[in-house]
Amino acid sequence: MKPPPVEITLEVNGTARTCTVEPRLTLADCLRNTFGLTGTHLGCESGICGACTVLVDGVSVRSCLMLAVQAQKTRIQTVEGLAGKSGLHPLQEAFHRHHGLQCGYCTPGMLMTAVELLAENPNPSEADVRVAISGNICRCTGYQGIVASVLSAAAQLQEHMGTKPWEQ
Ligand code: FES
Ligand code: FES
Repeated sequence: MKPPPVEITLEVNGTARTCTVEPRLTLADCLRNTFGLTGTHLGCESGICGACTVLVDGVSVRSCLMLAVQAQKTRIQTVEGLAGKSGLHPLQEAFHRHHGLQCGYCTPGMLMTAVELLAENPNPSEADVRVAISGNICRCTGYQGIVASVLSAAAQLQEHMGTKPWEQ
């Protein structure tokens, strides 16, 4: 017998959301199809490419491998939540400036992984960045521009330590 739908409540990009989902629905499909947040991309749908990376309570998660019901009462951050009232997040600005993307398919996952990295390590070395993004596959850029973008954003965030001018 098919298990009944389950009501879940979670916070997505600072907004409380409630929805009723099939128990087997992935978090990625819930974000994309239930909430319309299609910035979270699906590549392999098997935990390999990292395109679907979002933050769950501040920790990067492959949303294709997590069920929506497991996100009950968590705080989710997706790429849609990065830009503030005054513009793009410094990581998004840096990706634009340093050509950190070509087709952009990997970019939302790269950005969310980089957000986690810079929260944990505000002053990463190039090697730190390369290790952090090693679970995010990019087929286009050769990674050089992505690494330069993350290092540049880290420097900019250090300058604005404690303030978030893009949110004001
Ligand atoms: S789509 Fe989730 S890891 Fe590839
Ligand atoms: S920019 Fe195309 S996959 Fe990364």
